[in-house]
Amino acid sequence: MRRAERLLEFWRGRFGSLYLRVFLLFLAVCVLFFVGLALFWNMYFQNFFYKDKQEFLKKGYVEVTKLLAPFQEGTLSTRELRMATRIVARGVNGRIFLVDGKGVILNGSTEYETFKLPPTLEKSLGSGLEGKSGFLFDQPPSERHPGDKRPMDTLLTYYAPAQIGGETIVVFLQVPVAEIRQTISVIRLIILLPLLFSLLAVGLLLYFISRRMTAPLKQMNELATAIEQGDLSLRVPVTSKDEVGELAESFNRVVDRLQEWEGTRQEFLAQVSHELRSPLTSLRGLISAMRDGIIEPDKYGHYFRICESEVRRLERLVQELLDLARIQNGAGLRELKPVDMVAQTGEVLDVMREIFARKRLELSERVDVPAGEGLFASLDADRYAQIVHNLLYNAVQFTPEGGAVKVRLERKADKAVLTVSDTGIGMTAEEIQRIWEKFHKVDRTRGGTTEGVGLGLTIVKHLVEAMNGRITVQSRPGEGTSFYVEFARVNGNGGYPGGIPGNPDSSAG
Ligand SMILES: Nc1ncnc2c1ncn2[C@@H]1O[C@H](COP(=O)(O)OP(=O)(O)OP(=O)(O)O)[C@@H](O)[C@H]1O
Ligand SMILES: [Mg+2]
Repeated sequence: MRRAERLLEFWRGRFGSLYLRVFLLFLAVCVLFFVGLALFWNMYFQNFFYKDKQEFLKKGYVEVTKLLAPFQEGTLSTRELRMATRIVARGVNGRIFLVDGKGVILNGSTEYETFKLPPTLEKSLGSGLEGKSGFLFDQPPSERHPGDKRPMDTLLTYYAPAQIGGETIVVFLQVPVAEIRQTISVIRLIILLPLLFSLLAVGLLLYFISRRMTAPLKQMNELATAIEQGDLSLRVPVTSKDEVGELAESFNRVVDRLQEWEGTRQEFLAQVSHELRSPLTSLRGLISAMRDGIIEPDKYGHYFRICESEVRRLERLVQELLDLARIQNGAGLRELKPVDMVAQTGEVLDVMREIFARKRLELSERVDVPAGEGLFASLDADRYAQIVHNLLYNAVQFTPEGGAVKVRLERKADKAVLTVSDTGIGMTAEEIQRIWEKFHKVDRTRGGTTEGVGLGLTIVKHLVEAMNGRITVQSRPGEGTSFYVEFARVNGNGGYPGGIPGNPDSSAG
């Protein structure tokens, strides 16, 4: 168990890299394939050559039997029969024995007449006498001199029965196997060498392919490590159009985004510290001036009021930043429920009427909704009020005395639309582009108040979008500004107007 674990650990350590594993796997498959091929060819050729030789021996046997009839008739002498079998034996490149029923060599290509058949062939003599024929590999004992234990070459032997004068004899034909073996080993070499070379070539190819395939992964890993250490300047080269290439592309995009975020974060921090610094600087200046007696005690009241307003601005800045962060994290909103925008807008207007009056601004309200019916959308009521308040407060800030502010609520087919228009200082097209950005504020020389922190509209936009709405603006410098806020309209009970087809409840609105 422990051994196996250690082995696995070793394997992971050594072959942990994906590319090496892919490479080894491919290579293993190729080696298996090649070994299979080599084995098959080897068998095939071996069979082929032995079959060939066997056919040859059978033909030799037929030729020998043809000699037996003339021998029996007396037209062929024993000497001539020996000569003739010798020629046949030379033809098959081996030796031939004619053996009688007692195992005595009668004739043949050798000078062994009257000798006993070698004991290794006795069994086949038996089956030959029974009328059977067959092949065997015979390894006769050494014949050079007694006591020589060196084995003779193996001989491929064919035995088959024949008749002489009514007596059954067995014909043995033997050829040395060494010759066939030599041919086969030459063939083996011819097969193996190209196989080995192709294996080498395939191996090399696989090595480069798997390396190429996994190189981007390796690079991505290096890049990830670099990112971890804070370096966002590197990118992975995209070298292919496949999955790995796509991964590399996505990876680069993620790094782009990270870099972007890092940039905005830095910028945001710089902006925040800048926004904090100016009220703090003016507070410090005022406090030092009072301490050093540069400001007369009888003017303290005035300067304290300035200090208070600066402190309040700081407070607002911190609070709005926290609020924005909460909204951006998705934690700033309560559950969305159908809210009557007419009633909710009315409440905000009631609270603000005094501010409008103080600045002598005319405030009018128009509700394009059938009397007695509300205008419902899925909202967080408090956050909706905050939107209305922010837009109205901007209208107050950026409209000179004597101007007019109109609030309008409209019921459209499937939308609920709030419009806040003023006759104020308006904005240029470039300014409109930038009003949603954090800390973007009016150019002080153009009028309007200077107390804003420039987060109001950023918060408004995030809130509207968090409640699945849309906010747009139209403005012209010197003429006025209109903000349009639209939400999907719902019924008082939360269903969409028109509802699900066939639903009888869906006509209420
Ligand atoms: N009704 C408007 N008329 C003209 N300009 C406007 C109007 N509303 C907004 N703006 C422009 O958009 C800028 C951003 O508005 P936003 O409400 O975000 O900031 P702010 O009012 O200056 O500060 P805050 O609301 O955070 O106290 C304003 O400073 C002003 O330049
Ligand atoms: Mg504002």
